[in-house]
Amino acid sequence: MCGIIGYIGHRRASEVLLHGLSQVEYRGYDSAGMVVSSGKGMRLLKDAGKLRDIHAKHDFLKLEGGIGLGHTRWATHGPPCERNAHPHSDCAGNVAVVHNGIIENHRALRTELMARGHKFSSDTDTEVVAHLIEEGMKKKKEKSPSASDSRRPSEGAARINDAVLDAVRAAISRLEGTYALGILIAGENRLFLARRHAPLIIGKGKKEEMFFASDIPALLGYTRDFILLNEGDMAQVDAKGATIWGADGKPAVRSPLHVDWTPQMAQKNGHDYFMLKEILEQPLTLASAVSADVAEGVRLMSGAVRPAIVACGTSYYAALVLQYLLHKQKKVANTYLGSEYAYWRTGGEDVVVAISQSGETADTLAAVRLAKKEGAKVLAITNVVGSTLSREADATLYIGVGPEVGVVATKTFTGQLAVIYKLAYSMSGNRAGLDELEAMPASVQKMLDEIQEPVKHLAKLMSKRRNFFFISRGVGWPCALEAALKLKEITYLHAEAYAAGELKHGPISMLEEKVPVIAIAPSGSLAPKMESNIRECKARGASMIVLSDDKTIRDEGEHWLVMPKVSDDFVPLFYILPLQLLAYYMTLELGRDPDQPRNLAKSVTVE
Ligand code: F6R
Repeated sequence: MCGIIGYIGHRRASEVLLHGLSQVEYRGYDSAGMVVSSGKGMRLLKDAGKLRDIHAKHDFLKLEGGIGLGHTRWATHGPPCERNAHPHSDCAGNVAVVHNGIIENHRALRTELMARGHKFSSDTDTEVVAHLIEEGMKKKKEKSPSASDSRRPSEGAARINDAVLDAVRAAISRLEGTYALGILIAGENRLFLARRHAPLIIGKGKKEEMFFASDIPALLGYTRDFILLNEGDMAQVDAKGATIWGADGKPAVRSPLHVDWTPQMAQKNGHDYFMLKEILEQPLTLASAVSADVAEGVRLMSGAVRPAIVACGTSYYAALVLQYLLHKQKKVANTYLGSEYAYWRTGGEDVVVAISQSGETADTLAAVRLAKKEGAKVLAITNVVGSTLSREADATLYIGVGPEVGVVATKTFTGQLAVIYKLAYSMSGNRAGLDELEAMPASVQKMLDEIQEPVKHLAKLMSKRRNFFFISRGVGWPCALEAALKLKEITYLHAEAYAAGELKHGPISMLEEKVPVIAIAPSGSLAPKMESNIRECKARGASMIVLSDDKTIRDEGEHWLVMPKVSDDFVPLFYILPLQLLAYYMTLELGRDPDQPRNLAKSVTVE
């Protein structure tokens, strides 16, 4: 969830932090802030609201200095407001902390610190970290005779520096829960960081500058060379480099990572919103996903006797498509929501496929850890090289669609589908399917070119309605689920998806005059029964919007979208495209922000 960035070097830190925060704002955007340190001391600026509004009001760039931390928040403890925005500081204002995650023992720590006289100024769990460090430094000073020894200033300073590191280390050792932490201490030419079950990467600048951030896009404008921290690592960075200690407290060396994402990939490239850019670039991103190397996946899956699939949200709908394809090959695989795996699993799974665009979703990671503990091998399907999931999995298939900045998943969903098709077809040796997959990006381009205007027109009409139903059958059903999720996430309108045959088992009672029902109704095996379901809805007065390649079925609709003819397996991939666009254009009609919908964050790192 929250976005974090840290900088130390020769540039004006506030510029780097502001740029970086604008790139990771999708991780949380209910408040933002930064702290910058210079020879004149440490200055902190924060407020509730979106980054650009806070910047317009307060001007982050007035903060001077070459060391700083920035944060965009997705609230967990305490409502979004100025006092709960990060960075948080200690009583004296010498320690500043930014944090992503949840400090689970914050209540006990707060009580203990308050008993020692610490005054808290926020409702957050994070603030305890700043006070713990303050407390640790106070104790060290009291113990160290040289700290007040004015005859040996340089030796005294060195000891105080060590005392600072010790205080940071001691504070971190008291924390239970999850954290990516950035820590700045007044007068220090270094930043401290630590991670446990929350993403944090270090970026290496070209000359005498270092960065860290919650994810790669924040730093693409400055570097493509990263150091990945392991779980439980703590680090100190100065302008020259990083010193890392492992969870056991011993010095550690971590592998460097060079990424080929470019800064342009994380720009809007002339579009008003990232979401539209990311929808329209799908022909390109699909071409990249289709070229994924799936050999390791085929090896793991072919040997699997009891495979399972885990994922959340949009990725869960992609997981349903994988389940469908595996079942067609007579390979039974249970599919679980990451958050439910612990309760529903059969046990004895030998391979668990974990699908997550970010590779950081806490619910999916919890399922993966449980499966691994019980002896399963893990096959990850993700977009992010170096993500926690990819590092914990036995093998990873990368979808390779470049950074997705819009909060809702679009190109990562279709990228996941492309890799899933390739995996399934490679497992079964379906050459015709693989050939069709190769040709698919060009057909997607043609379709996107043709469908945008009709969808815009439909969006105008639909934005006046308040309740929506999506129906389909077979492999079209996950597409209906995903389409309803897209619509509700960004328009805030009520949308539900049903397997079309289920309507008559209850939900049909909600249909009344003019309620829009959007039917994903391709020709082929699904068509006859879908036609009956469409008629059932029409008989209750529903306003049918029919997506089909078949004119006879389309003619059942009050409105329709002309779709290309595709094979059954590809229905979710093609049919989701106009429905992504529909959600996007309706959101614009309603005057809402498709890139940063309320209450959401791009990567959900809490369970
Ligand atoms: C919807 C959306 C979410 C994510 C879900 C899982 O547009 O983005 O539903 O799909 O939070 O995220 P990942 O795929 O990162 O595990």
